[in-house]
Amino acid sequence: MAILRSLIAATALLGVAARAQVVGAPFGFAAGTTGGGDASPVAPADESELTEWLADDEPRVILIDKEFNFLGDQCVDCECCIPDSNTCGDAGQNAIEVGIGWCSDYPTTTCTYDNAGLDGLDVSPNKSIVGVGDAGVIRGKGLRLHGTSNIIVQNIHITELNPQYIWGGDGISLDGCDLIWIDHVKVSLVGRQMIVTGYETSGSVTISNSDLDGATDWSASCDGHHYWTVLALGEDDKVTFSNNYIHQTSGRAPKIGASSFWHVLNNYWSDNTGHAFDVSEGNALIEGNVFEDVNSAYTDKGAGSVFAVSSDDESTCSSALGRTCIPNLLTDSNATPVADDAVLSSFPADEEGEITILPVEEVAAYVLANAGVGKLSSTSSSTPVVASSSSVVPIPTSTPVSIPTFIPSPSSSYAAPARVETAIESTSTPTPSSVGSTPHPPSTCSSRRRRRHLHQ
Ligand SMILES: *[C@@H]1O[C@H](CO)[C@@H](O)[C@H](O)[C@H]1NC(C)=O
Repeated sequence: MAILRSLIAATALLGVAARAQVVGAPFGFAAGTTGGGDASPVAPADESELTEWLADDEPRVILIDKEFNFLGDQCVDCECCIPDSNTCGDAGQNAIEVGIGWCSDYPTTTCTYDNAGLDGLDVSPNKSIVGVGDAGVIRGKGLRLHGTSNIIVQNIHITELNPQYIWGGDGISLDGCDLIWIDHVKVSLVGRQMIVTGYETSGSVTISNSDLDGATDWSASCDGHHYWTVLALGEDDKVTFSNNYIHQTSGRAPKIGASSFWHVLNNYWSDNTGHAFDVSEGNALIEGNVFEDVNSAYTDKGAGSVFAVSSDDESTCSSALGRTCIPNLLTDSNATPVADDAVLSSFPADEEGEITILPVEEVAAYVLANAGVGKLSSTSSSTPVVASSSSVVPIPTSTPVSIPTFIPSPSSSYAAPARVETAIESTSTPTPSSVGSTPHPPSTCSSRRRRRHLHQ
């Protein structure tokens, strides 16, 4: 009987292993990413085995076939502060004192948080991290893709990283990496950023079909919406951001603050009480997206370059890129029209390869049906924006993306809890009243100098 049972178990396991692989292929800038490639899928037994396999030197396809729960090691009554943004007590976010000077002159308090969230799981090169069905959850800890390359993260849910506290944890952090495909990932209830890049380059990245769920009981904007959504501070990043669902957020969705190129297409923003795009540096081509109930979708105020396609711009796009760009669709949303031609001339389209863009009318329904975990099956393609030889014809760019500025990055910065960044809000971006008081440092020095200073 026991033998029979283990035989059945083994067969079932083989079945899972045979079925659970990366589904679809990366497109956009991260095209060519192979992760663990053809390595036999392996399901870690527990948290320590998962931690070990993520960080070892073997190319691996690691199955996340259950919840891995890293919670339990608490810092009790530890040092925290109360930033000005927290005007709502327990419904707001206090900040963990992480020793980077962020708490500055804010009143101190004590708080109890879980240590796991403060440092993500290190991921070595050549790994696929793949959820099985809708079972794949990593609770209490994020992923740290620092100094690594060729990683696929697909169909997993990262959640519960001290959502009560600023600096409580980042969902996925990228730094000094290349060829990263984040697909069908859900991130919810994090203390800090859902996805963050920088300060070194993150190379070629595609973030697709993911569910960035900002619903929270502890909001830095005091309204049940998460403020810290996506922060892009990586120098010279090339990011395709496509078919994602970004909802119940109130800021930084995303904030782009380094010389980088973001091609943002066919995403669905819904219910944002503050701002979506805050581009203080770098380039963003924003096309074929839906913004619904977004207080500020994009603006012309940042110092970065934004081309948000409207119906007026279709021909501009055609002459620059050799194809028609797709206007965004805004409902019950505000935005300042901005169409900076510099974005088109700096678009490294040849590196992104060929893509097909969904008509904007189809985007909301498509994204709702496909974004997040448990939406993949081995028989269906995950890839909504498929490489195609259709009418989309990328042209070589004559102007490469801006030359990255070298920022000394001592190894200690890798060990720092979460990001040092960060504290820097764009001073030129209009902040709706709900986020006007969101924590930022009293300093008025340039962000670059501030960052360097904080690193030292
Ligand atoms: C990752 O895979 C590539 C291609 O097979 C190989 O050249 C490289 O050495 C691998 N890296 C590591 C750390 O195993």
